[in-house]
Amino acid sequence: MILVTGAHGALASTILAELDARGVPAVGGTRTPAAGQRYVDFDDPARLDLGGTDVLVLVSAGYAEDDRVVARHRAVLDAARRDGVRSVVYTSVTTGGDHLAFALAHRVTERMLRDSGLAWTILRNGLYAELFGALLRWSADGLESAFGTGSLAAVTRADLAAAAASVAAAPRSHTSRTYDLVGVPVTATDVADHLGVVHRTIGLGEYRDRLLADPLLLPFQPPMLHSIASAVRHGVLSGTGPDLAGLLGRAATDPLPFAVAAATAGRAVSARP
Ligand SMILES: NC(=O)c1ccc[n+]([C@@H]2O[C@H](COP(=O)([O-])OP(=O)(O)OC[C@H]3O[C@@H](n4cnc5c(N)ncnc54)[C@H](OP(=O)(O)O)[C@@H]3O)[C@@H](O)[C@H]2O)c1
Repeated sequence: MILVTGAHGALASTILAELDARGVPAVGGTRTPAAGQRYVDFDDPARLDLGGTDVLVLVSAGYAEDDRVVARHRAVLDAARRDGVRSVVYTSVTTGGDHLAFALAHRVTERMLRDSGLAWTILRNGLYAELFGALLRWSADGLESAFGTGSLAAVTRADLAAAAASVAAAPRSHTSRTYDLVGVPVTATDVADHLGVVHRTIGLGEYRDRLLADPLLLPFQPPMLHSIASAVRHGVLSGTGPDLAGLLGRAATDPLPFAVAAATAGRAVSARP
């Protein structure tokens, strides 16, 4: 049995839909199970039960401080070993993201997985096209961001889900492989041009001040978001590679329409009273 964690999340639900479309049986693991799903909460290790799972697609639960994310992933890997899981497919962060504020928890998880004795595959996911578009802010005359002229080799969630489904369906072909799943470079100006508006770059200092002044953000979020802006601006997330197309068996999807759609959705939100 294939078990995909984070089943109500955007990536895991798309992986499950991909597997279903391919006729590959899989079950979703989630903190809030509906019929046919399994209860899986990495923050509740005493109740983690992965019995009957051959292939675990461990979708990172990364929205927290490093220590909490590492503890979550350690708990699920301990349960995987104890419960006889054969292969673990882990969704990590792209190699170019080594300097992102949230990379440490991913790299520590990768190390725990390699040392676990379990068969493993690491999917180093690039940043989502949808995320890139959502991080662009609307001003009176167009878009603004701290990305400058830097590009991001953005990937659609759907492509990452399709790649994960391919690996989960045939894990033995991918054992002990680390794939860097980056897409096609896109800039904030590309998104603005597509929408027929200007893109204005703000400084990283101004961006930091805005993040720190935002009462809606949790403590881990300002450094997380600032590191994404800094990494894009300095060009360390622009590199492309062959792994995504290799797993997809086709070229990566153009991320621009997805970034544009996310930016457009953000305009509706910013227009709300
Ligand atoms: N590459 C990128 O650009 C990017 C961007 C954002 C995040 N990420 C990372 O990729 C992961 C998947 O992305 P996504 O777009 O699917 O995010 P998402 O829609 O926010 O889904 C995240 C899911 O993580 C699961 N989760 C949270 N806490 C958990 C816990 N304690 N135990 C088990 N599961 C837990 C939840 O699933 P249930 O509600 O079903 O329990 C949640 O829905 C994120 O969690 C994050 O680590 C990557």
